Amino acid sequence: MRDVPMTGVEEAILKRYSVREFLPDPVTPDQVAALLEAARLAPSSLNSQPWRFKVVQDEENLAWFGTKPVSRSQTWLSKAGAIFVCCADLTGYVRDSQASAFFYREHDLIRGDSMDGIEEYVEREVHASETARFGAAAMNVGFAASFMMLRAVEIGLGSCWIGMFNETNIKAHLGIDPSLRVVGLLAVGHPASDTPSVRKRKELDEIILR
Ligand SMILES: Cc1cc2nc3c(=O)[nH]c(=O)nc-3n(C[C@H](O)[C@H](O)[C@H](O)COP(=O)(O)O)c2cc1C
Repeated sequence: MRDVPMTGVEEAILKRYSVREFLPDPVTPDQVAALLEAARLAPSSLNSQPWRFKVVQDEENLAWFGTKPVSRSQTWLSKAGAIFVCCADLTGYVRDSQASAFFYREHDLIRGDSMDGIEEYVEREVHASETARFGAAAMNVGFAASFMMLRAVEIGLGSCWIGMFNETNIKAHLGIDPSLRVVGLLAVGHPASDTPSVRKRKELDEIILR
């Protein structure tokens, strides 16, 4: 492993942990922009980029995120400097996947069996149930969130991905378009400590299929 040079990405991966205690320092507009830019550059299936973000930074709404009807009383959320409500646009996901497939075909960028495979994939998504479509679009949003989490470390911030939230309440309260689905919340702020309390991970042997 040490034949591999230490890079900024590796450092960010090693330093990242789920931060649940934040200092009161604000997350600046430039920091918010840096995280959104990291998300924007993430990979996505057929370059569909189905992620949409609502950035919440005002005290009242941050406090609201820490309450029972929103996050099952994850009260520490109210101390975050910003909460990114990470959404998937399921309609946009299908539309933009179709547009990419059309573009590839029109410009003869991908040919033969591979192009047929892409068109079959898009056709499947067009007719997929909302649940299946959500799974595919949410996976893309997850990639964007990973980029944000690593970039956060690089610019001196910490983050925690939140999967336990009430989607209906969040959408109603923040006026998020009903056609969007909330995939997760990314709480971001200045970490109160730079080391995780525990870092329990499976051994390589447990995750490599032989
Ligand atoms: C899909 C997903 C959902 C999660 N939901 C929550 C959550 O609701 N609340 C929370 O405090 N942490 C949540 N986490 C953070 C995990 O608990 C954390 O990533 C895991 O325990 C590993 O710890 P680490 O991130 O510090 O390495 C979630 C993480 C993921 C990927």
